[in-house]
Amino acid sequence: LRRLTVPAIRARKQDGVTAEPIVMLTAYTARQAQLLDAHCDVLLVGDSLGQVIYGLPSTIPVTLEMMANHAAAVVRGSYHSVVVVDMPFGSYEQSPQQAFESATYLLKASNAAAVKLEGGAAMAETVAFLNQRGIPVMGHVGLTPQAVNVLGGYMARGRSDAEAQKIVDDSRALDEAGAFAIVVEGVVETIAIAATKAVSCPTIGIGGSAQCDGQVLVTEDMLGMFERVPRFVKRYENIADVIEAAVTRYADEVRTRTFPGPDQTYQPK
Ligand code: KIV
Ligand code: NA
Repeated sequence: LRRLTVPAIRARKQDGVTAEPIVMLTAYTARQAQLLDAHCDVLLVGDSLGQVIYGLPSTIPVTLEMMANHAAAVVRGSYHSVVVVDMPFGSYEQSPQQAFESATYLLKASNAAAVKLEGGAAMAETVAFLNQRGIPVMGHVGLTPQAVNVLGGYMARGRSDAEAQKIVDDSRALDEAGAFAIVVEGVVETIAIAATKAVSCPTIGIGGSAQCDGQVLVTEDMLGMFERVPRFVKRYENIADVIEAAVTRYADEVRTRTFPGPDQTYQPK
């Protein structure tokens, strides 16, 4: 099981056709990466770790250091999937040079293969700048959580004609700038399909369409570990209930002095 490469992911879509959709999930820790790796093509160290791991109110406060540490753990815990790291808010928007400095820090610290950044046409120059200097970039359009203070919330995008057109135009600009894939998040399905048809690189949907060239979810969301989830999340399991039941039994056994039992205690020879 050799590690996949960025060009292999990009090449999943040939002349507008993707025979095998790209499977992507978020991972933040080494053990989580170990469990997901063989089933995925891409592991995303998402800045969603701000809410999911750190209990922050949004992704805005997430730092480069947080991303670098979790990315390094995910690379150590995987050997098959391409590992992509989110550029956190404030680390890339100012200029292509700032983005290059931040991206090199992330990739040197972690050995991840690529970065992801939010934004469309406004980020095209930066995407080309990084790509031409050895850093593959995944784009992210539609509902871009780092722009929550501009968008006013996490509602679906592309409901007006102007907004729908902008999402398609942004996707095209990223594609032309050399993005190897584009996450299309939280958009009306017809727009996800239009964006997918408009670009040569694969689109990866989350709250998009089954017709995107791949799908991504936040792992904790699809496993039922995180309490508040958007409508587009399908819960494949309810791990919170499993943990609740196990911890309830543990607490009972500690309080009744039935744990540890004979199997968990050492006796003299
Ligand atoms: O941070 C994240 O988890 C993401 C995915 C939801 C695409 O950006
Ligand atoms: Na993100």
